[in-house]
Amino acid sequence: MADLIVGIQWGDEGKGKIVDVLAKDYDYIVRYQGGHNAGHTIVVGDKKYALHLIPSGILTSHCINIIGNGVVIEPSALIEEMRQFGGEQALLGRLFISDRAHIILPFHQELDSSLERAANAIGTTKKGIGPCYTDKIARIGLRACDVRNFPAQRESIIARLQERVRTLKESNMLDSSLEELVQTSISSLESAYTILSPFITDTTSLLWEAQAQGKRILLEGAQGSMLDIDHGTYPFVTSSTTIAAGSCAGSGLAPRDIASVLGIMKAYCTRVGHGPFPTEDGKEFGALLCEKGAEFGTTTGRKRRCGGFDALAARYACRLNGCDKIALMKLDVLDGLEEIAVCVAYQYQGRKIAYVPSDLENATPIYEILPGWAGESSKGIKSYDALPTNAKAYIARLEELVGVKIAMISTGAERSEIIYRYDCAI
Ligand code: IMP
Repeated sequence: MADLIVGIQWGDEGKGKIVDVLAKDYDYIVRYQGGHNAGHTIVVGDKKYALHLIPSGILTSHCINIIGNGVVIEPSALIEEMRQFGGEQALLGRLFISDRAHIILPFHQELDSSLERAANAIGTTKKGIGPCYTDKIARIGLRACDVRNFPAQRESIIARLQERVRTLKESNMLDSSLEELVQTSISSLESAYTILSPFITDTTSLLWEAQAQGKRILLEGAQGSMLDIDHGTYPFVTSSTTIAAGSCAGSGLAPRDIASVLGIMKAYCTRVGHGPFPTEDGKEFGALLCEKGAEFGTTTGRKRRCGGFDALAARYACRLNGCDKIALMKLDVLDGLEEIAVCVAYQYQGRKIAYVPSDLENATPIYEILPGWAGESSKGIKSYDALPTNAKAYIARLEELVGVKIAMISTGAERSEIIYRYDCAI
């Protein structure tokens, strides 16, 4: 059976740390959607690792790491990331790439940047994610199997590239010349062929075999539920299915293969890019969260927008994902506050509502004020009982509002700074 880890806010909840601490109990760790727009920072001792495409299980020596068919891969970003872990030779047999995963090419990135210059920009990471998924859905994308076959099918692949780039050029979406765009794409495919080919395989069959042998599989979501293409704050979303349902499409496993779902949420909220964020605090509280929580994007370095915990968004996401349990992250960032405002309802079209409307930009938060634990600290605490009384009360209130038990509480960036509650194995 497989377990699933999924972000239930706007991404950057700390999924990487949780996958990293749980990885020892699993044999396979699988990424199933998104691309190098994602970013996990994992701290082990005095070393910091920035992961974008490689699953967080890479830091646990016995884990096999899979980049599933639902992921979009920019070859040079992946190759660069592989170098952190000793490069190709060190990773052979520990990292596998689905032959059905789609490839991000230089013109996808240029198109993403050019679309972002328009008035209705999304605030994307400009990594080419949306344009690559666009080609996938339009059935004109190139996949990892094309990379593996590149020398044999060179002419037909180049003809497909030329056709796609010509269409984009005709719509005046790209500044670079057709020749340049095709040539940079060919170079990208050539280096992908040379370096990545040994890693490209049918990961769906690999996972089915692993499952038949009773291996334990952990599926690792990227981004967060509020950025889901269908259920998030559209159009200010990413271009994949970030919720639990996407894990099957993006890995080849079936819904009945998923045993449990662990939702990851921060003790407050953040978001990067544009789009509705009801609890955003442009004043002192937001600035304090940003500073204490080091809320800057791993991928783009952008300052994250910060604000209080939104219980409605979290409850909505937990229902979408079918969360069995929650890991609450960065509780220590709230240390020192006299009181903490939590959003418990929205004011919407002249009334008070307790659900997430499709036009979230028209909702304003209604807060409940909870006592903080100023003068006490939760930093680095590893046992629930040792937490400040008001921190425990805060956790209990979040559980009540969200309707799911909080099984793990992170009290610092280090692997060891974590509290396990109830039965922690998800
Ligand atoms: P894209 O995924 O680059 O197309 O960006 C679409 C939206 O998703 C933008 O608001 C990004 O800031 C946001 N986004 C994409 N990846 C992440 C992530 O890993 N964490 C948080 N936000 C993300």
